Amino acid sequence: MQCLLYIICLLRLAYCKREVFNMASNYSLLLLFLVFAGTFLETKGKLTPKFYSSKCPKALSIVQEEVVAAIKNETRIGASLLRLHFHDCFVNGCDASVLLDDTSSFVGEKTAAPNNNSIRGFEVVDHIKAKLEKACPGVVSCADLLALAARDSVVYLGGPSWKVRLGRRDSTTASRSAANTSIPPPTSNISSLISNFAAQNLSLRDLVALSGSHTIGLARCTSFRSRIYNESTIDAAFAKSLQGSCPLSGNDDNLANLDLQTPTHFDNLYYKNLLKVKGLLHSDQELFNGTSSADKLVKIYANNTFAFFKHFAKAMINMGNIEPLTGSQGEIRTNCRKVN
Ligand code: HEM
Ligand SMILES: *[C@@H]1O[C@H](CO)[C@@H](O)[C@H](O)[C@H]1NC(C)=O
Ligand SMILES: *[C@@H]1O[C@H](CO)[C@@H](O)[C@H](O)[C@H]1NC(C)=O
Ligand SMILES: *[C@@H]1O[C@H](CO)[C@@H](O)[C@H](O)[C@H]1NC(C)=O
Ligand SMILES: *[C@@H]1O[C@H](CO)[C@@H](O)[C@H](O)[C@H]1NC(C)=O
Ligand SMILES: *[C@@H]1O[C@H](CO)[C@@H](O)[C@H](O)[C@H]1NC(C)=O
Ligand SMILES: *[C@@H]1O[C@H](CO)[C@@H](O)[C@H](O)[C@H]1NC(C)=O
Ligand SMILES: *[C@@H]1O[C@H](CO)[C@@H](O)[C@H](O)[C@H]1NC(C)=O
Ligand SMILES: *[C@@H]1O[C@H](CO)[C@@H](O)[C@H](O)[C@H]1NC(C)=O
Repeated sequence: MQCLLYIICLLRLAYCKREVFNMASNYSLLLLFLVFAGTFLETKGKLTPKFYSSKCPKALSIVQEEVVAAIKNETRIGASLLRLHFHDCFVNGCDASVLLDDTSSFVGEKTAAPNNNSIRGFEVVDHIKAKLEKACPGVVSCADLLALAARDSVVYLGGPSWKVRLGRRDSTTASRSAANTSIPPPTSNISSLISNFAAQNLSLRDLVALSGSHTIGLARCTSFRSRIYNESTIDAAFAKSLQGSCPLSGNDDNLANLDLQTPTHFDNLYYKNLLKVKGLLHSDQELFNGTSSADKLVKIYANNTFAFFKHFAKAMINMGNIEPLTGSQGEIRTNCRKVN
């Protein structure tokens, strides 16, 4: 465009030359500004898969190796690590707040209602963090560790992979009250699930795909007791089979598989169970009840593993993008349990 104007000017009048020169330098200034603004915005608020590629090239392989070793030692830990990332992100963003122990200035999130006697995996996180600190002291955040460990767990258990966006930093505080109110309880109905996820900028599709995480892992009796004794939207034989290890009272911590068929394999059987009214949690079955807005998606995922995997991977990226601390916000914790 500039060239064209220039040629036209040359062909016409000499005095035009100056005008073109001014215009060209204005363009360059504008261009320079845009490039600067672009890089500034890019590095300021956004996460990127390449964040550690020069800062700590071994970071991703360290996390992956340790996750695989931890799952080989105990199959359930993959599910527990995936859930930790969820419980981190839903409480004031993905900032590793869930990992902080109580201090004199705040009560941590570990004893919040959705977490107490329930979330696990802290020792594995400590172990991975120690390896990262040895390789690259003060570089890799605990929040990024959780995002990577969640992905590596899903992959190792047979699920989809995705490029984890990185560059999160760690919070210097935690909030038990926010954990109590932001993480949805298993008694939630479909409308509260939808609004709870919408509050995190996650769609109905994200909700249904992410709930597919319940294709792995376990739940305590206390999380599904009222469902197996009191509800009609449950397969009767399935309910009965669970009552043996989950009595009307007591044994709150007895465990049952969230996916009754393949609890250590990341597949789409969770959705097939819902079609047969065999969801373990009330909140699971709310996604498919015959008239719910989520029914269509459940049917698609039950029919098509590829669609589930594709949407799950996208939804995990969306969840991982919830309000990260970046740039100079927060800190890189040395010990994931404590503020530096
Ligand atoms: C949609 C709303 C959700 C509700 C109401 C919910 C609720 C629950 C409950 C009650 C348990 C069992 C806890 C216990 O009894 O100790 C559980 C386990 C689990 N949840 Fe969810 N969850 C939801 C979404 C998610 C999401 C989005 C993820 C991951 C992205 C996830 C991953 C898991 C995993 C992997 C387990 C098993 C953990 C283990 O075995 O240690 N959940 N969930
Ligand atoms: C292996 O898993 C068990 C639980 O089954 C746990 O107590 C132990 O600490 C784990 N060991 C390692 C090295 O992770
Ligand atoms: C967490 O669980 C422990 C052990 O069951 C219990 O003693 C404690 O009261 C619980 N904490 C909260 C805040 O509910
Ligand atoms: C959060 O829930 C726990 C366990 O139900 C309760 O003991 C505690 O008072 C609640 N904490 C806050 C700050 O809301
Ligand atoms: C869903 O649950 C919320 C919160 O418990 C309640 O206010 C609402 O009335 C329920 N909606 C339906 C349709 O049952
Ligand atoms: C949701 O998106 C809005 C608009 O982009 C943003 O201001 C807000 O912080 C986001 N909320 C969460 C929880 O990510
Ligand atoms: C079943 O529902 C009744 C009436 O709401 C309630 O009193 C009872 O505690 C519930 N039972 C279980 C196991 O949740
Ligand atoms: C299914 O969910 C919809 C939407 O919340 C609700 O209106 C309907 O009553 C539920 N149907 C059954 C059979 O529970
Ligand atoms: C999945 O959907 C396709 C096309 O709609 C259909 O032909 C096929 O039978 C379905 N498969 C299963 C396992 O339901």
